Amino acid sequence: MKALCWYGKNDVRVETVPDPTILRPHDCIVRITATAICGSDLHLYDGYIPTLEPGDILGHEFMGEVVEVGSEVRRVAPGDRVVVPFAIGCGQCWYCRNELWSLCDNTNPNAYMLEGMYGYSGGGLFGYSHLYGGYAGGQAEYARVPFADVGPLKVPDGIDDEHALFLSDILPTGWQAAERAEVHGGDVVAVWGCGPVGQFAIRSAKLLGAERVIAIDRFPIRLSLAERAGAEGLNYAETDDLVEALKEMTGGRGPDVCIDAVGMEAHGTSIDAVVDRVKQRTRLGTDRANVLRQVIQACGKGGRVSVAGVYAGFVDKFPFGALFAKGLTLRAGQCDVQRSMRPLLERIERGEIDPTEIITHRLSLAEAPDGYAIFRNKADECVKVVMHT
Ligand SMILES: NC(=O)c1ccc[n+]([C@@H]2O[C@H](COP(=O)([O-])OP(=O)(O)OC[C@H]3O[C@@H](n4cnc5c(N)ncnc54)[C@H](O)[C@@H]3O)[C@@H](O)[C@H]2O)c1
Ligand SMILES: [Zn+2]
Ligand SMILES: [Zn+2]
Repeated sequence: MKALCWYGKNDVRVETVPDPTILRPHDCIVRITATAICGSDLHLYDGYIPTLEPGDILGHEFMGEVVEVGSEVRRVAPGDRVVVPFAIGCGQCWYCRNELWSLCDNTNPNAYMLEGMYGYSGGGLFGYSHLYGGYAGGQAEYARVPFADVGPLKVPDGIDDEHALFLSDILPTGWQAAERAEVHGGDVVAVWGCGPVGQFAIRSAKLLGAERVIAIDRFPIRLSLAERAGAEGLNYAETDDLVEALKEMTGGRGPDVCIDAVGMEAHGTSIDAVVDRVKQRTRLGTDRANVLRQVIQACGKGGRVSVAGVYAGFVDKFPFGALFAKGLTLRAGQCDVQRSMRPLLERIERGEIDPTEIITHRLSLAEAPDGYAIFRNKADECVKVVMHT
């Protein structure tokens, strides 16, 4: 089959590789019909997540048709259309039973690596390095999906691929970012990053009753897409002091909720951002954390900070004093996709949310390397790349 393989920093290629096969009785094989490139893939593409090996197949946002099932699979059958959550859950462990799917205790065969880094390991992820299990990803014609009875969600006939695909990751991730911040009626919510995750965090905050949503980015296309969803756009590149600007916009109170939908590759020109960039380039540091610092600094007293953007290592100049003095709540983490896939599918069916609004580029799998370059450089007014195979 054809698959998008990683070879090194900014070097991905579509290659012919062996077809996946059933390895365990709970596996299924999915023939992929649609797959997307995520901001998280850019962290791999840009070389910031260790333990990728040349030839590894990337991709964790995918869906398709089940073509083969293992002997113990009961809930899905060949012919079913399914969308697959990026985090692999066993369905049996304490974490899965408590809907903390991304923290599954059983699906990362390389757990020892993350235990060394973080004390404990989360579950395995598709196409996300050997730290997360070394599972082949879904930017390919076929993928092996472990625990086929647990993760994949059947897609009803009336829902086409483009409406269902983002249930694999970014729609639940944006939703969880808002939900974890306990967004409710009357809240003023500020969202840093108007990429795909930010767009869905903005829409989710609205659905959860936010009175105002302030959307922060520097790309006009992304800001206008946020404004179309009812947010007030704020271009940080044209703002001298963002924290002060937010204070002014909120009658001196600051936002009740601040969401970081940017993560470890934040852009910035402040001194801390420049220092982070130099440290990242010279491998003295891992994350560019200027947005993380800013969300904490900007959040109003008693507010809630929710971090959906990915961070990988140690962060310095972390404003813990501000977090403490203002009595903030801080939530973060990978998305527990399985928890909100079904309710979000129902919202799509009811027309409350239209995931296709953010798609700007429709490519073939063969064009995936171009898709990475365009999405990475935010070129050609790109917001989200979908590949139909
Ligand atoms: N928690 C999870 O489970 C999960 C799931 C999916 C993605 N993510 C992460 O979410 C983040 C965003 O993903 P995406 O697909 O939307 O990526 P993206 O790269 O398309 O979007 C990031 C956006 O942040 C903006 N940005 C950069 N610096 C900024 C700054 N200083 N202030 C405000 N905005 C700034 C960029 O212009 C861009 O529009 C990534 O870190 C990704 O890894 C996390
Ligand atoms: Zn993703
Ligand atoms: Zn589990």
